[in-house]
Amino acid sequence: MRKMEKLISINCVKLLITALFYTCVSCSSVEQKIYVELNDTVPCVRLLNATHQIGCQSSMSGDTGVLHVLESESDLDWILNTGPHPPYMVIMETAFFSRSVMLRMKNSSRVAGVAVIVSRTGLAENFSPHTTCPNQNTGVYSAKYGPELANCNVTTWNPLGNGLSYEDFAFPVFALKDENQTQVIRKCYEDHNLRLNGSAPQYPLCAMQLFSHMHAVTDTVTCMRRTDLQNRFSINPEILCDPLNDYNVWASTRPLNNSAKGQTTNESFVIAATRLDGRSFFWQEAPAAEGTVSGIVTLLAAVQALYPVIQLAPPPRNIFFAFFQGEAFDYIGSSKMVYDMERKEFVIDLNNVHSMLEIGQVGLRNGRDLWMHSDPISRMNSSSVEEEVSDMMKNMHSIAAGLNVSLDEPPASQPLPPSSFQRFLRARQIPGLVLADHRTSFVNRYYESMYDDAENLNVSYPPNLSPEEKLVYETEAAKSLAEVATLVARSLYKQAGGDDSNLNNITADPKIVAQLLYGFVIQKNNSWFQSLLPPDLTKKGILSSGPPQFYIGLGPRTYGPVHSVTLFVQHIMANLTGTVTNLTETQCQKPDDISTENKDLYAYFWVSGSTAVNSSGPFCVRAPVRLSKAMSPAFERQEYGSQDYSTWTESRWKSIRARVFLVASRELEMLTLGVGVAVLLLSLLVTYFLSSKAELLFSSARETPTTTY
Ligand SMILES: *[C@@H]1O[C@H](CO)[C@@H](O)[C@H](O)[C@H]1NC(C)=O
Ligand SMILES: *[C@@H]1O[C@H](CO)[C@@H](O)[C@H](O)[C@H]1NC(C)=O
Ligand SMILES: *[C@@H]1O[C@H](CO)[C@@H](O)[C@H](O)[C@H]1NC(C)=O
Ligand SMILES: *[C@@H]1O[C@H](CO)[C@@H](O)[C@H](O)[C@H]1NC(C)=O
Ligand SMILES: *[C@@H]1O[C@H](CO)[C@@H](O)[C@H](O)[C@H]1NC(C)=O
Ligand SMILES: *[C@@H]1O[C@H](CO)[C@@H](O)[C@H](O)[C@H]1NC(C)=O
Ligand SMILES: *[C@@H]1O[C@H](CO)[C@@H](O)[C@H](O)[C@H]1NC(C)=O
Ligand SMILES: *[C@@H]1O[C@H](CO)[C@@H](O)[C@H](O)[C@H]1NC(C)=O
Ligand SMILES: *[C@@H]1O[C@H](CO)[C@@H](O)[C@H](O)[C@H]1NC(C)=O
Ligand SMILES: *[C@@H]1O[C@H](CO)[C@@H](O)[C@H](O)[C@H]1NC(C)=O
Ligand SMILES: *[C@@H]1O[C@H](CO)[C@@H](O)[C@H](O)[C@H]1NC(C)=O
Ligand SMILES: *[C@@H]1O[C@H](CO)[C@@H](O)[C@H](O)[C@H]1NC(C)=O
Repeated sequence: MRKMEKLISINCVKLLITALFYTCVSCSSVEQKIYVELNDTVPCVRLLNATHQIGCQSSMSGDTGVLHVLESESDLDWILNTGPHPPYMVIMETAFFSRSVMLRMKNSSRVAGVAVIVSRTGLAENFSPHTTCPNQNTGVYSAKYGPELANCNVTTWNPLGNGLSYEDFAFPVFALKDENQTQVIRKCYEDHNLRLNGSAPQYPLCAMQLFSHMHAVTDTVTCMRRTDLQNRFSINPEILCDPLNDYNVWASTRPLNNSAKGQTTNESFVIAATRLDGRSFFWQEAPAAEGTVSGIVTLLAAVQALYPVIQLAPPPRNIFFAFFQGEAFDYIGSSKMVYDMERKEFVIDLNNVHSMLEIGQVGLRNGRDLWMHSDPISRMNSSSVEEEVSDMMKNMHSIAAGLNVSLDEPPASQPLPPSSFQRFLRARQIPGLVLADHRTSFVNRYYESMYDDAENLNVSYPPNLSPEEKLVYETEAAKSLAEVATLVARSLYKQAGGDDSNLNNITADPKIVAQLLYGFVIQKNNSWFQSLLPPDLTKKGILSSGPPQFYIGLGPRTYGPVHSVTLFVQHIMANLTGTVTNLTETQCQKPDDISTENKDLYAYFWVSGSTAVNSSGPFCVRAPVRLSKAMSPAFERQEYGSQDYSTWTESRWKSIRARVFLVASRELEMLTLGVGVAVLLLSLLVTYFLSSKAELLFSSARETPTTTY
């Protein structure tokens, strides 16, 4: 009769479970806990350098708080002091996202996290979360070189910088980009959390949970040591952080043997450089339009203007075009290239560098003034440098005279703005100039922020243009950048020793500038960019929409279809400097099998070609365009506490998520839990009682227990 006993006891338990279930459902609003996952969110992540950690993170299981929309000063007081339901998850309009508000949040234990609604409405006159003196410790000015100029003593380059990007927050901070999702949150907030006549809202309340737990802590030194330890002792090593890294793009007007390193040629080089990357407070949210794109577009348009003339009338010096990655993080790209040059591990040698022209921010927002910045220390110290710099300035003045730009130079005592050129000067006193649209501090009011976008660069289109029409529409910004590009191209030709009589043949095409601007600040997924990329990259849907990624990548570690600016600049350079060959796809991948081709001198690109109906399909382009690693030498040398080289790493994480749901009051939740636990204990007790007293209870069966066994 054990069967019977079991049946009864099972039924008892069933009954109890049912009772428990009804208790839960009826006594609380658990059934109202509907989670809404938010999709288009951007986190602020943790970065580390030799000595600090910056950025944001949540706890391991995500941080939760009651939603409160910050729209006025009284909301701020509610959140920080008087609201009865802390911790709060603060939803912030753009206008409130400032250093002072964020620091008050940081200081308060009543804040679980912050979500910023990204929009240009209510945007302040200026906003730069960067420091006032970018790359302060890794430029050329230091105790050893122009100590009186170090630390922006003479010129504060980014006076609007509030340093928010360099703060360390112990709670998650997200950006909300999608309008519709913002509506979901607002509705939930308005339905449940609104204060009515100043009194506290009632449960259930709308809450938000943010997940952005970061694996790395403290600083790069600690993180790398822990990662090394893991690698040594664990079968399943876990990497905690990765050095920021990507690739520089370079090309030269006369092809160089990429297999031969060090001083293998006695050619003299003029370097034309600009930077490729930008950053902002939020991860991968760096449009960098004026800060970076203006320079990239100018240099690419200059290459396009130069090439036809260079082929017909090559100047005696070789022109070396360099696009540096990771410059926002203590000059990662340029310091690596200079490091390789110094160790004779690069195709060109520092001693072969004749001079350098760098394109800085040239957005030309304030009229059409351009400024030639130079280094006072090397000019004072060396007469040959002084002579060459004055010559360069004189030449550029005479070229500008024939163009619609006005060009001037700041006082000779003013130091260089933050620039890759500074890393070259650290190694050797090279004559050079940095071209920019600011005389002293930056005119860019949104430097290294998510608002340095198309609008900041003044790229706007008449309404009702189709994407294809916009692509070729010559905006005012395009026309003025074309002038700058012409100035740059002619100056480079002249600097390379080219003949004056050819200068007037060099003119940048505003149409190319327009296309470049459209691709880099509005939409990379356009027909022109597609035609320059490999077919497997342009197959439908792979190119995501919007501008390319300007935040420096992490090499092979990728997160979905994000396309780094490096890829685009590399392929545009291939188009502008290359020649179309008749190689097949397999030949293009292995050109060494063909006697007339040479992989030492050229790279080969299999590209889609025009999408027009009568186009001949993909073809192979041969171009002297190369990538070179942009990873700080500090990691190669394993000097994770380096003072000379960038030490920035990015923490790893498991998940980045955000969701909104309703919560019952804590008392109610506790009550639910308490009742649940009590019922569970009771059921266990009853079961125990039933089985231990089974013989007594079911003894009517009159069977001797022994026979059952
Ligand atoms: C942070 O809080 C401390 C005291 O808790 C106060 O002394 C300090 O001024 C606060 N800082 C800011 C920026 O509000
Ligand atoms: C800053 O520059 C001024 C002159 O412009 C100089 O007198 C002063 O010593 C400098 N400060 C430092 C710390 O070098
Ligand atoms: C690391 O970053 C912090 C925060 O910006 C800065 O104060 C510090 O000087 C940096 N450390 C080094 C070695 O550059
Ligand atoms: C928002 O929702 C509306 C209608 O539901 C839709 O038409 C629109 O495309 C959505 N916007 C975004 C950015 O998803
Ligand atoms: C996020 O995406 C999921 C699935 O694509 C969708 O069900 C959900 O409604 C989206 N969330 C919002 C707030 O749009
Ligand atoms: C708020 O107060 C006003 C008058 O002070 C009153 O008319 C109104 O009914 C109140 N609303 C609620 C929801 O209590
Ligand atoms: C390039 O340099 C390598 C190594 O010095 C050499 O073997 C090769 O022949 C060179 N190629 C050309 C085309 O000069
Ligand atoms: C160096 O230059 C001289 C002429 O100036 C030339 O004859 C010689 O071949 C060059 N050497 C190399 C390695 O290019
Ligand atoms: C420059 O232009 C002139 C006149 O248009 C032409 O005769 C000459 O060949 C051109 N030179 C070059 C190097 O293109
Ligand atoms: C000035 O030049 C001399 C040699 O020409 C060099 O030794 C010295 O380091 C230079 N000074 C600075 C500040 O670079
Ligand atoms: C560059 O692109 C244009 C189309 O935009 C094409 O006509 C031309 O052949 C390409 N040239 C090279 C070298 O790829
Ligand atoms: C490609 O062009 C070269 C001359 O530039 C020619 O010798 C060769 O036969 C061509 N190959 C094909 C497959 O057409």
